[in-house]
Amino acid sequence: MSTSPATPVRATRDGPVTVLTLDRPDKLNAFDAAQTAALGRELGVAADDPAVRAVVVTGAGRAFSAGADIAEFGALVDGVAFRAFITTLEGVFAQIELIPKPVIAAVHGLALGGGFELALACDLRIADESARLGLPEIALGLLPGAAGTQRILRIVPRSTALRLLVTGDQLTAADALRHGFVDEVVPAGGALDAAIALAHRLAAGPAAAIATAKRLVREGAELPLRSGIALERELVSALFDTADRAEGVRAFLERRPAVFPGG
Ligand code: COA
Repeated sequence: MSTSPATPVRATRDGPVTVLTLDRPDKLNAFDAAQTAALGRELGVAADDPAVRAVVVTGAGRAFSAGADIAEFGALVDGVAFRAFITTLEGVFAQIELIPKPVIAAVHGLALGGGFELALACDLRIADESARLGLPEIALGLLPGAAGTQRILRIVPRSTALRLLVTGDQLTAADALRHGFVDEVVPAGGALDAAIALAHRLAAGPAAAIATAKRLVREGAELPLRSGIALERELVSALFDTADRAEGVRAFLERRPAVFPGG
């Protein structure tokens, strides 16, 4: 296992799994420019390294993240500067969608504003019972600007989305599970271990098929059904020629567990 030197986002390698830890616990991992840039950098490293097969995102201390750094953006001069700020933050979160590897959010404590938006950008979300998720920007006379308004709308009905936006109310982990904002709730303190275990499981799977599943779900959600099915046909056919597919089928016929070469 290797760890990067002190930075607002710590990258830890555990075999094929990279764990990215937001590491400004004294500010509840609020996103200032340095933390945003560091997350973008580390996501890029994980994306480019073929030995990394899955990524986990977590937060140090008592929160996942309390959102954008209010002190920092509060000092911006006008909406033009704020637009640049949220564009950068949204762009870094969007990187997660484009990485052809599963990215899992391990959420504990507060995931507010940009923290919730980051979790929503991840492919899978595991929360522990301490998690509280919400979009409190309304209290600042603002709204989420890193895709939060649009991502919640694709998960819950319109009135539920609007209610979260205009009240800023926090969801418990159980509420978040019921609404489909998280996939699994584990006992307090267990989110990171559960996410790492899932990441290892996926890392041992057929990489191209997993990347294709991620792409089909992401792109298919935006497509009319027939177009989505056409995309599925193209991408699934391409999987047939992979070494992982050859190994998967051979292993089945030989009645043994598959050992996927990852290609
Ligand atoms: N931006 C900047 N700093 C933040 C922050 C944010 N979004 N959220 C927390 N912090 C800082 C606090 O200022 C405090 O710093 P300090 O010790 O130097 O004063 C530190 O993190 C701990 O927060 P604190 O408020 O003392 O903890 P708490 O447990 O009493 O309250 C919250 C936690 C999350 C309820 C409260 O910090 C809060 O409302 N934060 C803002 C959340 C938000 O609106 N996010 C969306 C931003 S667009």
